[in-house]
Amino acid sequence: MNLSEASQQRLELLSQDSLKRTLLPCPLDQRISDFSSNDYLCLSQRPEIIEAGHACARQYGAGATGSRLLSGNLDCFEQLESQVAQFKNAESALVFSSGYQANASGLAALLDKSLWGGTVGGTVGGTAPLVFTDRLNHASLHHACQLAGIRQIRFRHNDMAHLAELLAKHAESTQPKIIVTETVFGMEGDLLPVEQLAEIALVHKAVVYLDEAHATGVWGPNGRGLGAVKHPDIDALKAMGHWIVMGTFSKAVGVSGAYIACSEIFKQYLVNRCTGFVYSTAPSPFVIGAVARALEIIPQMETERTALHLAAEQLRGQVHALGFDTGLSNTHIVPLVVGSAEACLELKSHLQQAGIRTSAVRPPTVPPNAARVRLALNTGHSDELYSQLLECLQQWKRRA
Ligand SMILES: Cc1ncc(COP(=O)(O)O)c(C=O)c1O
Repeated sequence: MNLSEASQQRLELLSQDSLKRTLLPCPLDQRISDFSSNDYLCLSQRPEIIEAGHACARQYGAGATGSRLLSGNLDCFEQLESQVAQFKNAESALVFSSGYQANASGLAALLDKSLWGGTVGGTVGGTAPLVFTDRLNHASLHHACQLAGIRQIRFRHNDMAHLAELLAKHAESTQPKIIVTETVFGMEGDLLPVEQLAEIALVHKAVVYLDEAHATGVWGPNGRGLGAVKHPDIDALKAMGHWIVMGTFSKAVGVSGAYIACSEIFKQYLVNRCTGFVYSTAPSPFVIGAVARALEIIPQMETERTALHLAAEQLRGQVHALGFDTGLSNTHIVPLVVGSAEACLELKSHLQQAGIRTSAVRPPTVPPNAARVRLALNTGHSDELYSQLLECLQQWKRRA
């Protein structure tokens, strides 16, 4: 069998299970009725952010020309990193070209056993850490564990009692303990009980690695994410360097790229040992300029955040009344859990016929029989659009 035949066969199998994915055009004039975009604060279209990107590119060039360790360490990166550290209430920060890259390589560097062994007679030792992960963590976090050769100890989704129980089972172990989770789950749309997590982590002196991809800009004090919450246990973990917060610039920030906010010493470790940093060209200066401006604007968007959270609450009430299941959602991400992949594609296409764009989320992104149409609300959605959406959902329920 040649590669073309093998690929064809694999795609046919995916098709049979309604799991084949296809790239569809995203016409700009349909943005207004788009519930599939993660541009939660509609910042991707803000003229002053676009202009700030242009200004930075005019000053530094369209590209960074190399890894930061070679020709690429422009001072705009250093400035943005200070800004991000301040925004996240952290000592330091490092920027990356994408969230996937930050997680896959940054988390893998944290889990690397050579970090944890200390030195034995001048040679770096090695102690594999015990890694406790939420069952519904993003693919990039799983990828990091695979890269590091770690067997994950998985706790039930957002179940802090289960996490505490698993940590207690390993209380006698001298291996370092690391907890990896998200603060807003992208497919469930629910919030991490961050203070409870910090309390448990502190008891076990565990390192916490948080993914704030969907929280940055939308949740936490002034949109700084849940990792920026003020709490004595979080402060104690920070003092140990045990509070590491990753987030993206690709969702509510409206641009692209990502950060890891952490202690200065861990940043220096990443600069040396994180392959996605060492062996990759730094992000474009356009991105850096645009992100810097967006981070200035975000803390001032409290009115928009409040309206977004209210819209999500109202929508949940309205779709429940129609008989839809929104799972665990308590954020601006509202999934309509329909079960089978077929039903999910049908509902998505029914909404698409009315010009409403949504995403069909199917296994393996979500567990089997938990396929869902994901509604990501943003500050640009109008009351008319919500009424139209509800009307379409009502029609679908009547037909189903
Ligand atoms: C939870 C989570 N982490 C990381 C990423 C990756 O971020 P990026 O799209 O910037 O690569 C995503 C994106 O879908 C995500 O949902």
